Amino acid sequence: MKILFYGAKDYDQQFFDKLKPEYPNIEFVFIESNLYKETASLAAGNDGICAFVNADLSAGVIEELHHQRIRLILMRCAGYNNVDLAKAKECGISVLRVPGYSPEAVAEHAMALVLTANRHTHKAYIKCRENNFSLNGLMGINLYGKTAGIVGTGKIGLAMARICQGFGMKVLAYDPFPNEKTGLIYVSLGQLFSSSDLISLHCPLTPETHHIVNRESISHMKDRVILVNTSRGGLICTEDLIAGIRDHKFFAVGLDVYEEESDFVYEDMSEYILKTSTVQRLLSFPNVALTSHQGFFTEEALTNIAETTLENAEAFRTDMELKNAVSL
Ligand code: NAI
Repeated sequence: MKILFYGAKDYDQQFFDKLKPEYPNIEFVFIESNLYKETASLAAGNDGICAFVNADLSAGVIEELHHQRIRLILMRCAGYNNVDLAKAKECGISVLRVPGYSPEAVAEHAMALVLTANRHTHKAYIKCRENNFSLNGLMGINLYGKTAGIVGTGKIGLAMARICQGFGMKVLAYDPFPNEKTGLIYVSLGQLFSSSDLISLHCPLTPETHHIVNRESISHMKDRVILVNTSRGGLICTEDLIAGIRDHKFFAVGLDVYEEESDFVYEDMSEYILKTSTVQRLLSFPNVALTSHQGFFTEEALTNIAETTLENAEAFRTDMELKNAVSL
């Protein structure tokens, strides 16, 4: 079975190559180009494709893949909001994903963003390098004793809840499907927003959660709240967030994901004049820390991603149960 691996980086190939000897009947062809309308035809001659969070898997692209006789889409990630599942079903294409490859990787990065944005370590590092040892502008707040609100208590949300408890925080949670076994205090989303000193988003992006953080919900948040998003950019209405930051609503904001990211995520754009401006506006605020969708990026997570993606491919190849299939 031949799989075309779109958007391949050296680190992807390194972890897949390690497992190659265990799967002699599966051949991966790695290409740097990402998947979008213009590159979908490159899939010709393969049985499946492998794609990531920043690939375009909208209806038109899936139709083209179908035209190229693709039968399998292997998402090497947990989220699949970029896949038109209805079109995949209509075309008889199976979509498999990696449901949980390292919740701790993402949760630990979420806490790294909290600490960075709160204690301004990204600024302190640069200041010290310039022999500027003053503390002006670097004051943070203690997390100990404060309240953390976790939106979405799946694998990553629970890992973040554990980390917050480790910091001595009281943890509130919201999830339409509360998991009572966790012992967390579940409250309504409104209550969570109005009672939390730190809000961390860990729910999937769906029509229901799109812009869950907006002008209205921001107005109910505590003044000087810390907001962190490592889930999906579309959960936050960026314009409303910027307005809230300008109104001094937020003590600190940490974003690993943002609405404009798909245009340049994982690319070195340092020599380009970007056509979009939201990221630049966010970066202009002293209490905002941004990273480029790297929550997943640990050795453990990349090992798990490669293992599960290959298991998914092998299950498809041998007509076994597709336990990681996603459908409508
Ligand atoms: P999960 O499926 O284990 O948990 C998601 C939780 O969100 C579930 O408990 C679900 O009931 C809950 N949920 C659904 N609708 C909700 C709503 N309207 N409000 C609040 N909660 C809701 O998913 P997991 O593995 O914890 O991942 C969470 C998200 O993290 C993914 O959807 C993905 O977008 C993002 N992610 C980000 C990564 C990064 O590198 N920054 C890497 C991996 C995932």
